[in-house]
Amino acid sequence: MATVEAGRQLLYGGFGRLGCFDPCLSNVNGVISVKSGVNNTWKRSFVRGQVHKTSRVPQDRRGVGPFQDTSAVFHGKGCASRLDSMRYNCQRVESLSGGAAEDQRRMLFVEESDKVISVPSNGKPNSDVNEFKVDQTLDQGNGGFGSNGKPAAAAINKNSSQKVMSNLIEDEAWTLLRNSMVYYCSNPIGTIAANDPSSPSTLNYDQVFIRDFIPSGIAFLLKGEYDIVRNFILHTLQLQSWEKTMDCYSPGQGLMPASFKVRTVPLEGDDYATEDVLDPDFGEAAIGRVAPVDSGLWWIILLRAYGKCSGDLSVQERVDVQTGIKMILKLCLADGFDMFPTLLVTDGSCMIDRRMGIHGHPLEIQALFYSALLGAREMLAPEDASADLMQALKNRLVALSFHIREYYWIDMRKLNEIYRYKTEEYSYDAVNKFNIYPDQIPSWLVDFMPSKGGYLIGNLQPAHMDFRFFSLGNLWSIVSSLATLEQSHAILDLIDAKWEELVADMPFKICYPALEGREWQIITGSDPKNTPWSYHNGGSWPTLLWQLTVACIKLDRPEIASKALRLAEKRISHDKWPEYYDTKRARFIGKQAQLYQTWTVAGYLVAKLLLDNPSAAKNIVNEEDSELVNAFSCMISSNPRRKRVWKKQILV
Ligand code: GLC
Repeated sequence: MATVEAGRQLLYGGFGRLGCFDPCLSNVNGVISVKSGVNNTWKRSFVRGQVHKTSRVPQDRRGVGPFQDTSAVFHGKGCASRLDSMRYNCQRVESLSGGAAEDQRRMLFVEESDKVISVPSNGKPNSDVNEFKVDQTLDQGNGGFGSNGKPAAAAINKNSSQKVMSNLIEDEAWTLLRNSMVYYCSNPIGTIAANDPSSPSTLNYDQVFIRDFIPSGIAFLLKGEYDIVRNFILHTLQLQSWEKTMDCYSPGQGLMPASFKVRTVPLEGDDYATEDVLDPDFGEAAIGRVAPVDSGLWWIILLRAYGKCSGDLSVQERVDVQTGIKMILKLCLADGFDMFPTLLVTDGSCMIDRRMGIHGHPLEIQALFYSALLGAREMLAPEDASADLMQALKNRLVALSFHIREYYWIDMRKLNEIYRYKTEEYSYDAVNKFNIYPDQIPSWLVDFMPSKGGYLIGNLQPAHMDFRFFSLGNLWSIVSSLATLEQSHAILDLIDAKWEELVADMPFKICYPALEGREWQIITGSDPKNTPWSYHNGGSWPTLLWQLTVACIKLDRPEIASKALRLAEKRISHDKWPEYYDTKRARFIGKQAQLYQTWTVAGYLVAKLLLDNPSAAKNIVNEEDSELVNAFSCMISSNPRRKRVWKKQILV
């Protein structure tokens, strides 16, 4: 173990030293200033950071990796030694992701049937840190190398070789994750979406996406590295109070950005100084111009996880953080024309951030909403001013869980009920409340629905059920206890039964099935990125591994997640950590997938860390609490339908 630790030090040692920098956020409110001449926080201006005196060296920003960004940040006076140390570390990491990483991959992807760990082509263990682990495992399990200096093949069993592979992949993942870190005022504040140095086009993948950072943040939390998460939480909070407009119209105040970028810009009036600025995107620049509804919800979820993992409740107790939570809640709980307790959103307002026919009340948003409401209820300090908000929150929790559990749930029994629905029922106690025409049941569903198992449908609107299976929504319904315990197990039963459809060669399909033909044309607007079984339209996203793992651990069925993890490990590193996979069986790397996608890396790491230490999942899940269960049963007994039936019975 000592050698492995030595290796780790060599690999990551420099990063550890970041902790000795003055944390920018200890005085976050002081450091971040709003440009002079702007009278309030609702005026657009960059959030500005430290001023750095520097001889301005022109920099190529395109394709800039986090370390180049970092070095830009490190231009400040008195930062020279830090800069040197960063550059030094940077080189180390880069060298590992170059030749050495290739060697690792070669080792990892020896034919399964060989059951042998190969050695580098020079025949002797090289100085790569990961080699320590290989040697060590071989030594421990099998008596070391044979007389020819090569591993004694016969003695290496499948399990230990799998374990070695897995550890090597984990090491590589940590290197990549750290490589993707973005710095602001010399402090880590997030991870960029993708970090592929060979990519000709980064689009906006060089930004820190809020939703993408969640698995990164959780990986750091599980590793006991809390600063980056704390910084992320507090800096994104600053971005919440921002003027955001599209063609002279501003959305609500509590909105969190989809992403942000750290820019190093010339300081006004000084030719030799630069400063860091945070530049958020609320959807004004995003393809389709959609506001990210999920960002604020994820932010609350991460804030809660931060407190639980680190034990540091001071962040959630801060006045600005409490205000941030309330602003998000006010935006979500605002009265509108709705008859449903579910959040009404536009297409593309979540992980699926382009047109896919999920406008209305998509399950993913509802599950995140529920989880965020539970988190907020836990974290909001009781005070008179927020009593009404707290009451609204509690009412919504009960109504939301009732609505989803009752109306989104389908299994064989419910499907058969829908199949025999009467329509056009005008009455309070209608059985077919949303006037669903049975002909809507798609033919694929009849085969897809197993006799044991069920799931929550993707969306529910008047006269319309979207029967597609959306993975994140279903998994997060388990994690957040939006689904009942019985429903949660049934979802995992379905995943198990439909493994070939939902997982096949790479976990996990974002939705099932894909839209095809005319339906694809109409619903996606003939989107060439969302062709059938690609990208959001039935593509497979390895990042979903982490949510799958949390769900499986919560239900004490980790073997399902382990199976998925083992499958991912067969290709994920070799394929350079793609953003997504295409085809029905996830056989191809996605047509336009970014490589070295950070949330692919982080999703893998979270899954791996949790399977190694399942008890840590308690910091992420929401257990169903008795207060809600009681309110829920009151709700069922006072449900107009049942009440009227009951009244009738009395009258008879
Ligand atoms: C794509 C995904 C979105 C993700 C972004 C950055 O747009 O659809 O969910 O946040 O890429 O990775």
